[in-house]
This record gives sequence, C-alpha cells and structure tokens, in this order.
Amino acid sequence: MILFREAIRKMEGYVPGEQPEEEGYIKLNTNENPYPPSPKIIKAICDFLATPLALSRYPHPLSEMVRVGAEKYYGVPREWIVVGNGSDELLNLIFRVFLGKGDRVAYPFPTYTLYRTLALLQEAEPWEIPFPGDFSLPEEFVRARVPLKILCNPNSPTGTYVSLEAIERLLRETSSPVVLDEAYVDFAPSNALSLLARFPHLLIVRTLSKSFSLAGLRIGFLFAHPEVVREILKAKDSYNVNVLSQIGAKAALEDMEYALRNIERIKETRLWFSRAMEELGFFVYPSCANFVMVKRGDMDLYFLYQELKKRKILVRYFPEWPDALRITIGTDEHMHILLEQVRDIIKESAHV
Ligand SMILES: Cc1ncc(COP(=O)(O)O)c(C=O)c1O
Repeated sequence: MILFREAIRKMEGYVPGEQPEEEGYIKLNTNENPYPPSPKIIKAICDFLATPLALSRYPHPLSEMVRVGAEKYYGVPREWIVVGNGSDELLNLIFRVFLGKGDRVAYPFPTYTLYRTLALLQEAEPWEIPFPGDFSLPEEFVRARVPLKILCNPNSPTGTYVSLEAIERLLRETSSPVVLDEAYVDFAPSNALSLLARFPHLLIVRTLSKSFSLAGLRIGFLFAHPEVVREILKAKDSYNVNVLSQIGAKAALEDMEYALRNIERIKETRLWFSRAMEELGFFVYPSCANFVMVKRGDMDLYFLYQELKKRKILVRYFPEWPDALRITIGTDEHMHILLEQVRDIIKESAHV
C-alpha cells in the first residue's frame, strides 16, 4: 500500500479544459488567442536556436532579459517582478509562501477553480464567498480577516469586472496580502498596476498566454513589493522558465503593437457576438475578457456543449455550473460558424 498525504488523497485534482490531439476543432474552451503570435517572436526563437550551445546552458534563473522587457513595457522596476512558467506557477508559489495548514484563503466565487486546488494542496481552507447578482465585490470578502485574499479580475468564468475604486477600497480595508489575478485584464478598460506603489500588500499576476497568443510558451509575471519578491524567490525552482520561452517573451514585449491590434480585434468580435447570442435568446454576462459566459434557462447546456463538440466546436462546460457555458472569443469566422451551429441545434431540438 502506497501512503500519500491525506490531503492529497482526499482532494480532487484541477481539471484543465480539453486539449484535443485530433486536428480540426474550433477551440473556444480554454481562452486561447485565435490569432498567431507575432512573427518576430518565432524569428527570435529560431535565430537563437541556430546559435551553438543554445540549449546546452541553463537559462537565467530570474529570466533577466524578460524582466528588463517587462520593466520597460509595464513601467514596474525589475526588483518588483518575478517571471513564472505561466501565471499558474506564480499562483502556486504565492499559495505556498503565504498559506500553511488550516489558514484561510478568501475569494469571491464562482471563479478560477485552481485557487481551490492550490489551497487544498497547502491543507489551507478555501473560503468561497458568493458574488452578489451584479458581480460586484462581496462585502463579506472586503471585510474578511484572513492571511490571503485573491480576486480574479476580470473574473473567470463570468468575464465580469470589478472597478479600480472597489479594488482600492478592498486594499484599504485589508492588511494581509491581496492577490489580483489579471490574466484577462488586457481586454478590460483599466488595470491595477497604478496601485502597486501605494499598497505594498498588493500582488498582481499577469500572463502572456491570452493577449499575446503565447499560452504554449508559458510566461507569467508577478508584480509585487521587493520584500514579497524576495520571499517568493525562495520557493521558486532555480530555472523555472526555459530559455526558448525567455527569448520569446522578450521578443513579445518588444512587439507590443502586434498584441494590441489583436486585443482590439477580439474586443470588436466580443461585442457583435454577444449581441448575436442575445438575439438567439441567451443571457450574456457583460464581459471584459476574451470570453463570454452565456445562459439560457430553457435549454440543457450540457446537451448544447455535446452537440457542438460533435460538430467539432469546443466550448467550456463546467459541471460545477451546469446552467452556463463559457465561450472563448475566436476569429469572426469562428464565431459565425458557432452561431450557425447553435441556431441549427436550437431548431433541431425545438427550443425556438
Ligand atoms: C484566471 C486565470 N488565471 C491564470 C490562468 C493561467 O494562465 P497561464 O497560462 O499564465 O498559466 C488562467 C488560465 O486559463 C486563468 O483563467
């Protein structure tokens, strides 16, 4: 009999969205960017690979070339930046550093379910505080006294967004660390970077996976006070970000224009697609992210998810929230195909 920690045995692992091996799917289930990354990124990686010893040396432990780029682009001094193997790694490090057995971590719910998994790994206690109907910050969350708070903003799976004023109030009411997961913030009207200097207990997590089309490269950033950075680095693997990802991330940050163009296209698609889904009878949550959450009370959404999958379109169905589907914003063409299929399915199943 193999003995595991009881906490591990008891917990469910995080279930990521499907990544089908078979080709030909329109993938609208894991909030990837439908546009390819900047060709300058590919060129930088290929040029680097052509140099002798490219892969035989360890990468820089702090991803210094990426920190330099991030310092310039985000306007945050590099001593305030940790580069991670995706933002998931940084979330993992934060939970490890701030939470021990029995500690509580509070977050508004529903949200990114990885937070629960990370808490349970620490034998910490997730405190899931329901969002009110308008998805503003729950008052109980603002007032909670816990070692760690986390807010996903814009939130997943809803796409809803909490204003900077509300975040500022949260920071004033809280003395323990507050993590803002801004994975989707490039699709929103503003972000909280400007609050960093005033609130040393604010930790902001970002990613290049969504707005920069680099989910496969695995690059995330933590922006936080240097004292936080110092402690987080103690828990980090020495060589957490591989050298090709470092080269690619540096090139990405040097070609911001490219990412910004795609962000604008996605926002435009989000707007017309949301209206079109409403016309089909769905409730569409107002989204500040690269996805929308939709509901339709008279329809079995698991059935819709399955029917779409048969037609080679993947959207995200969460068993935990069976009355909603989360749909990533793809290209205009993807969204037209999806609408066409949804229309067909509604007709065939007589939900007119
Ligand atoms: C809210 C949220 N945070 C973090 C992540 C992780 O992103 P990364 O690819 O940087 O690990 C995701 C990925 O889907 C996400 O939805």
